[in-house]
Amino acid sequence: MKNSTQVGGGGGGGGGGGRRARLAGGRRLIPIVSLLFLSHAAIQAQTIKPYLQSPTQHSVWVSWRTAAETESTVRWGSSPDALTQTASGSYHTFAANYLWHSVKIAGLEPNTAYYYRAVSGADSSAVFRFRTYQNPATANGHIRVLIVGDTQHPTTAQRTFQAAREKLIEKYGPNLEDEVQLILKQGDNVDAGVLSQYISMHFDPLSNLSGNIPTMTVLGNHEYYQNSDLSFYFPHFEFDDPDLQYNGLAGTNGEHYYAFRAGPVLFCMLNSNEWWSSQTQWLGNVVSAANADPTVKWIFGTAHHPLRCENWVSDGSAYIRDQIIPVLRASEKTAMYTSGHSHMYARGSNRDSSVWEVISGGGGLIQNWNQNPEQNYPDVQRSFDVWTYQIMDIDLEAETMDVECYSIGNNDYVLDNVLIDRFHRYFGKKGPAQACGAAPCRYPADFALYF
Ligand SMILES: [Fe+2]
Repeated sequence: MKNSTQVGGGGGGGGGGGRRARLAGGRRLIPIVSLLFLSHAAIQAQTIKPYLQSPTQHSVWVSWRTAAETESTVRWGSSPDALTQTASGSYHTFAANYLWHSVKIAGLEPNTAYYYRAVSGADSSAVFRFRTYQNPATANGHIRVLIVGDTQHPTTAQRTFQAAREKLIEKYGPNLEDEVQLILKQGDNVDAGVLSQYISMHFDPLSNLSGNIPTMTVLGNHEYYQNSDLSFYFPHFEFDDPDLQYNGLAGTNGEHYYAFRAGPVLFCMLNSNEWWSSQTQWLGNVVSAANADPTVKWIFGTAHHPLRCENWVSDGSAYIRDQIIPVLRASEKTAMYTSGHSHMYARGSNRDSSVWEVISGGGGLIQNWNQNPEQNYPDVQRSFDVWTYQIMDIDLEAETMDVECYSIGNNDYVLDNVLIDRFHRYFGKKGPAQACGAAPCRYPADFALYF
């Protein structure tokens, strides 16, 4: 059965504004191959674009927007021609023409492929295929994650996800849901927390993948802009599902932070805008439980703010650096902390730790060198001011993690979706944390030296 993912929707709307809106207009980047994977189902012109989230081994949530239709139904089954099961949900009225539907498909078998169609009255989606997560205790094979942050520009966000989709298919073939388990976003999914930007900067650019692969995210600072109560953020997401929460370890601040797992890989999702001691305490409880849990093999931390940033020093968060990172480092299972906020790519590793510290903030806008106060940090090995995404590949048997970073360039030059960095964590071996000497490692000048 062919993958029935729709090609990503158009941009439009939103954009601009904010201190980071420095995208050069009108520049042609890379050719966008947009029709290669248009499926038979997509040709039927269904307008609903489903978004998978909060996956477990037995369930997944399907969400989508309609302008008027109020039915929240998912028809699903083990064959695309026999969607014999029905799951019903509810909708949240964000605005008169913005109804957000959320349906949980439950009672599923682990590591099993299913097909579904989202239905709202006369409107429907194409038939999509997804795969449930593995049982953590028996999982094998690979866990792969696409990492993207700060997609707060509609055009470049779409280019980034188009490039990511092409690269994933190049690496793993067309049935991505069998090969890639998660899309991990680092917040600032919008430039301002208004509804039109949730569509143009998050859901539409993602729609070339979001019907097949679940997406999970954290809060950036831009989600608060023009929406300080986050009333346009939380109803979109299903982070408080008890089936999702690792070991029932919910925090005391609602859905601001949460932990979930993909097989034996645990993701700790934090809100770095709020420097709550309750969040730090909760993270300590999660890491402590996971460290003692033989069914958790890998631990990851994700929040919006980085520890430090070489090309805009004030981006660094003392809360992350001084409170969160030490908690994550307390377990040898912790492999990486990913953040966004800085609109570039960076990765480092403290000399006393094997935990990688990555900035994946190049999904939409770019903050260039020579624009803001800069500093060279010995524990940062790369700082590239280009649009990027990362593909993380964990081999559960070999106990290895390999991360590749790809780029489509920046406002000053075009890169054709090329590999610009890679690093790994192999259990039993310390990561190759090359220091960069007296100056930051910049792309492209230092590329050949370290690659
Ligand atoms: Fe930010």
